[in-house]
Amino acid sequence: MSVDLRISPEQVIERYLSMELVRVTERAAVCAAKLRGHGDEKAADQAAVDAMRRELNRLDIDGEIVIGEGERDEAPMLFIGEKVGNKQGPKVHIAVDPLEGTTLCAKDMPGSIAVMAMAGAGSLLYAPDVYMDKIACGPGYAPGVIDLDASPADNINALAKAKGVKPREISTLIMDRPRHAKLIEEVRKTGCSIRLITDGDVAGVIFCTQPEKTGIDLYLGIGGAPEGVLAAAALRCVGGQMQGRLILDTEEKRVRAHGMGVLDPNKKYDMSEMASGDVIVCATGVTDGGLLSGVKFGKDIIETETLVYRSITGTVRRIYGEHREFSKFQLD
Ligand code: FBP
Repeated sequence: MSVDLRISPEQVIERYLSMELVRVTERAAVCAAKLRGHGDEKAADQAAVDAMRRELNRLDIDGEIVIGEGERDEAPMLFIGEKVGNKQGPKVHIAVDPLEGTTLCAKDMPGSIAVMAMAGAGSLLYAPDVYMDKIACGPGYAPGVIDLDASPADNINALAKAKGVKPREISTLIMDRPRHAKLIEEVRKTGCSIRLITDGDVAGVIFCTQPEKTGIDLYLGIGGAPEGVLAAAALRCVGGQMQGRLILDTEEKRVRAHGMGVLDPNKKYDMSEMASGDVIVCATGVTDGGLLSGVKFGKDIIETETLVYRSITGTVRRIYGEHREFSKFQLD
């Protein structure tokens, strides 16, 4: 019996684009890493933004930034609504965080990454730059095992039961912020462990997808909404669960969100409402971290490590890069 190995034109584009996206985040990561440990968050971020924009504009896509550096009047580059690509390809929507964890990079601390997601037009939630309350766990659980509206103890007990362990054997990850004091207190009462991170909750959520490697079962707490969409996109590719709710606690934020299509300010978004359709997510390490190694600058080569996720197949590739043509990075 012969097997039909042909792939559709759309799949050809997807397959080809996933490798092209590696170049985009690699170059953003290398340019940011050049400024690693220099204490200048803005300069590192700008270097990543410039590189990412340059590379995106080389792609055969008719792209639009839906999550970027801010709204048009506050961000000159990679602003929401900016068109990218040479228009010689499919219409796609793009979420970018050229340098996720700017402080981590400026202080040369673990966990900063260059990250982006690409999907068909209309597939990514237009999330304003506000906070989002999030909960996430990895794959292998029945749908609905966790719920943003349940108490931390109920979520931990449900996850423990589903995993077949005691609640104190569940490991959680929470951002170390004063706003989480009550949450941390409640989680402590269950006896389970908490890893506190100072920044970088895109990687924090992704940690849940491989609890045996990262030691994290459950992400809880409030972080950036754009980061929430990027994390949901990655999780969709590997099949975890995530919910998020925008925190629209002022009239100004509600109006801004409404203008971006958020009609119900209290809506609880499911992972696939934040990222649907065929999604490609790509992340390159800037500083060393639990998810990815950071950029290494040698005399003759620059080394990078990148993760590429594709929802259509669920494939995750870890790509080690050795770069010899330094001029391609336009580092000076
Ligand atoms: P930046 O890269 O923009 O500095 O964001 C880092 C980050 O830690 C995100 O990972 C997280 O979602 C957000 O900031 C949390 O915001 P805040 O620092 O205001 O608590």
